[in-house]
Amino acid sequence: MSIKPIVYKDGILLMIDQRLLPVQETWLEYTDYQGVAEAIRTMVVRGAPAIGVAAAYGAAFGARDIAAVDIEAFYPPFEKVCDVLAATRPTAVNLFWALDRMKACARRHKGKTLSELKQILLAEAHEIAREDEQINRTMGAYGEPLIPAGARILTHCNAGALATGGYGTALGVVRAAHEAGKVAMVYADETRPFLQGSRLTAWELHKDGVPVTLICDNMAGYLMSQGEIDCVIVGADRIAANGDTANKIGTYSVAVLAREHGLPFYVAAPLSTIDLETPDGSQIPIEERDRREVTHVGDRQLAPEGIGVRNPAFDVTPSRLVSAIITEKGVVTAPYEPGLKQVKKEG
Ligand code: MRU
Repeated sequence: MSIKPIVYKDGILLMIDQRLLPVQETWLEYTDYQGVAEAIRTMVVRGAPAIGVAAAYGAAFGARDIAAVDIEAFYPPFEKVCDVLAATRPTAVNLFWALDRMKACARRHKGKTLSELKQILLAEAHEIAREDEQINRTMGAYGEPLIPAGARILTHCNAGALATGGYGTALGVVRAAHEAGKVAMVYADETRPFLQGSRLTAWELHKDGVPVTLICDNMAGYLMSQGEIDCVIVGADRIAANGDTANKIGTYSVAVLAREHGLPFYVAAPLSTIDLETPDGSQIPIEERDRREVTHVGDRQLAPEGIGVRNPAFDVTPSRLVSAIITEKGVVTAPYEPGLKQVKKEG
């Protein structure tokens, strides 16, 4: 059983504080939308699908606390709640997808009483969370045949149970391959600067008995050159209509290395990550985070004061470097534009 990072219980949203893993397993409690927004912004919860699930609960909490006298008066403050949640992180499109779904749900049930509508919105958040885990299991089943027996798989960042409603996207495929007895080793890039690979991927795979070896990001090329990697699988924060894929910073470098070494480079992502409104990767907003994530590890300073620092949190892998995109509606290969359109239509 893989971990579920977001649990709703009796009006409280419990989220494991992913900033403290793997040293501390601390669950934080949230009861209002402002708190949920802050949790997304500060990365208590992170990973594209998990951000979407958390935002849906945030919207449901915001809705619950709106003191409107009638249903018409409900909608403007509900929009405001969704705007606050949407302003937390810019790259993962699942955040906006989940909020759009909550807003559409609210509009669809205009005929209900206010208290019914609030219940319906909470039920919709539950449904988004439940579906997400199911979708990941389906992606696992579609992706597993791509993984060869005895596979040594490289992954970057954390696209696991912690990044989703459960099971994981890229790590969902890894889990399915492991259940089929095919995984010899998962190599986890540490993923500087936030260390999602060493802190989160290594933690959840090790806990679940999947063999995992940690490497620094700059070791991937060497391992590939030594014939120690068979394929790469990563998640995504946003996939443009042409298949260009935004994912954690460093993913592009891994894709270039995979191409150089003739290794398949797979992306596993739900339909909620595919953004047909964004034509190509150049249009995807890339979050730039605090310089301190680069200059410090915890309280320890690693760089001199006063220097320039860049901290883009994501990069874009051009679709020509992607061997296949695994979705819950099947595996899409180039040409991506019609393939992605088709799976979105089926969704
Ligand atoms: O900054 P993060 O930790 O939210 O970034 C997460 C990633 O880049 C993941 O690889 C991506 O969201 C896929 S998660 C299933």
